[in-house]
Amino acid sequence: MQSESLPIELKYWPIKRYMDIYRHSIDEMEEFWENEARKLEWFRTWDRVLDWDPPFAKWFPGGMLNASYLCVDRHLKNWRRNKVAIYWEGENGEERALSYSQLYREVNQLASALKKLGVKDGDRVALYLPMIPELPIAMLATARIGAIHTVIFSGFSSMALADRVNDTEAKVIITADGGYRRGKIIRLKEIVDEALKKTPSVEKVIVVKRTGHEINMQEGRDIWYHEIIRDAETEVPPLPIESTHPLYILYTSGTTGKPKGIVHSTGGYLVFIHSMYKWVFDIQEESVYWCTADVGWVTGHSSIVYAPLMHGASIVVYEGAPDYPKPDRWWEIIEKYKVTIFYTSPTAIRMFMKYGEEWPKKHDLSSLTILGSVGEPINPEAWLWYFKHIGGERCPIVDTWWQTETGGIMISPAPGIGLVPLKPGSATFPLPGIDADVVDEKGNPATPGVRGYLVIKKPWPGMLMTLYKDPERYKQTYWSRFPNMYYTGDYCMKDEEGYFWLLGRADEVLKIAGHRLGTTELESSVVSHPAIAEAAVIGKPHEIKGETIVVFAILREGYSPSDELKKELRGHLRKTVGPVATPEEIYFVSKLPKTRSGKIMRRVLKALASGKPVGDTTTLEDEASVEEIKRAYEEFKKIIK
Ligand code: PRX
Repeated sequence: MQSESLPIELKYWPIKRYMDIYRHSIDEMEEFWENEARKLEWFRTWDRVLDWDPPFAKWFPGGMLNASYLCVDRHLKNWRRNKVAIYWEGENGEERALSYSQLYREVNQLASALKKLGVKDGDRVALYLPMIPELPIAMLATARIGAIHTVIFSGFSSMALADRVNDTEAKVIITADGGYRRGKIIRLKEIVDEALKKTPSVEKVIVVKRTGHEINMQEGRDIWYHEIIRDAETEVPPLPIESTHPLYILYTSGTTGKPKGIVHSTGGYLVFIHSMYKWVFDIQEESVYWCTADVGWVTGHSSIVYAPLMHGASIVVYEGAPDYPKPDRWWEIIEKYKVTIFYTSPTAIRMFMKYGEEWPKKHDLSSLTILGSVGEPINPEAWLWYFKHIGGERCPIVDTWWQTETGGIMISPAPGIGLVPLKPGSATFPLPGIDADVVDEKGNPATPGVRGYLVIKKPWPGMLMTLYKDPERYKQTYWSRFPNMYYTGDYCMKDEEGYFWLLGRADEVLKIAGHRLGTTELESSVVSHPAIAEAAVIGKPHEIKGETIVVFAILREGYSPSDELKKELRGHLRKTVGPVATPEEIYFVSKLPKTRSGKIMRRVLKALASGKPVGDTTTLEDEASVEEIKRAYEEFKKIIK
């Protein structure tokens, strides 16, 4: 889609002007990032900008800083101490506003309490919390004392929680009795209790009282948050942290059944997101910034907590479902808090498109200045709807491409520098300092207009340091597909003008409503059910969620297909992975289409599930011949009928 289709002209920069800045940043990469690093306050300056021992990068080694200091203490030195840091809204209508001084107090109290519990520099603390202020507070409190947090999305099951806690060997879990979702209580503490049966490393559980329902508190292990902070100190000096000390570990899905623990540094990560959020969202003193993601995902880490708070913005945190109790809940929140920057996912936009523009029309959305999109490709129709009905044709849309691994935004329009002409559906250009390109199967630059693979050719400060306890897998996953390039796992196309068009995952990773799940991970959950012998999971295109889960399963001897069994299997996936993993369709089959070497021909299954012909072109992932695929397709069409 071309820029002519935009209804009005925004104030654009010529592409060349942006490219001049960009090229300089790539040519003088270290000098460029060093200048960006100077924008933060450090307790000690770095010895060098970068130690690059491919593929392991150490950014600003020797530099000392503290994330909690940068997000909180720094703002107490001026008038911002009385500025609202967090506007919180519970799903049930409760409200809380925390100024930067109040945030400081709470962060310090929790840091003091954690210290008293014996949490030390380098220890891991697991956070399993709903979207309440205590979640960012807990992240900042752990960072304050040099502990490493691992946030586990509160929509994950007890098994997923236990796996992640065990991998990090966390000493402490911070959770809540529950949270609200669609008017119902999600009983988080019960899920934690279940997980605790198999997490030997956990010594203490701190519980925030959110819903107030009756819960089990185990003497000596479980402590109420409000009690523990009552006797805590209100000042704990922020520990100077070496730049390469991990700030957090965040698990994400890959192509094997075992989730990957993405390790982010302190210095490089903070420098990177501090700059990116200024460029992309043009954060100003008066910005009221609302990112609708859950803090359980990387978007929440960078876009709710660390970047906006480092910039001293006021952030909005909303606990519940987007359309609860009515489809204008979000628009009501924007009007109420006078949100200026709004950042959400294409899935949400498509859902609201379905509800219709009469819902946003009921509200004054004139405070908005910039709109963002993240998590999956945005289709031009959704882009235009967002632009027109939410942004009132005034606000640029920043379609931001990035990943858990990249730490922050990599490809996006940058109104904070100079806005290039927008094309609905394209994330435009890489941001300064990001040497992104599209290559063909051999790693050579792809021809314009032809689909290839998105790669990053130089290290950047926000990049993951490694995979927790698995540096080999880090090398294999990201740095072995193409020599000396970071492989993103995404398809991409550059058009004649050099605009980047993101075209979805090239590997076996699914994006369900923007949430990342691995097919292998889902398959191992399906086969852990006693009735299932073998399974294949694929993603099927979906109008709103982008993709949905379809399961093909072979039953064990003695079981026969039934709706009852399908229901049970759905429940099993919800229980073992979480509600995000609920399949849309389940087919029982007697065999699965495989290549001679035993690889599942997913293309056949995808074509069957979406009712489309399998097509003629072989992709790289299918080692089967076109003929083989077609034969399997015809054969399978009969089986799944
Ligand atoms: O496929 C890309 C898609 O989301 C993947 C990363 O997922 P996750 O690590 O969960 O992080 C999501 C939020 C940062 C990418 O490999 N993706 C993310 N943003 C976009 C996107 N696809 C297209 N356009 C985007 N703007």
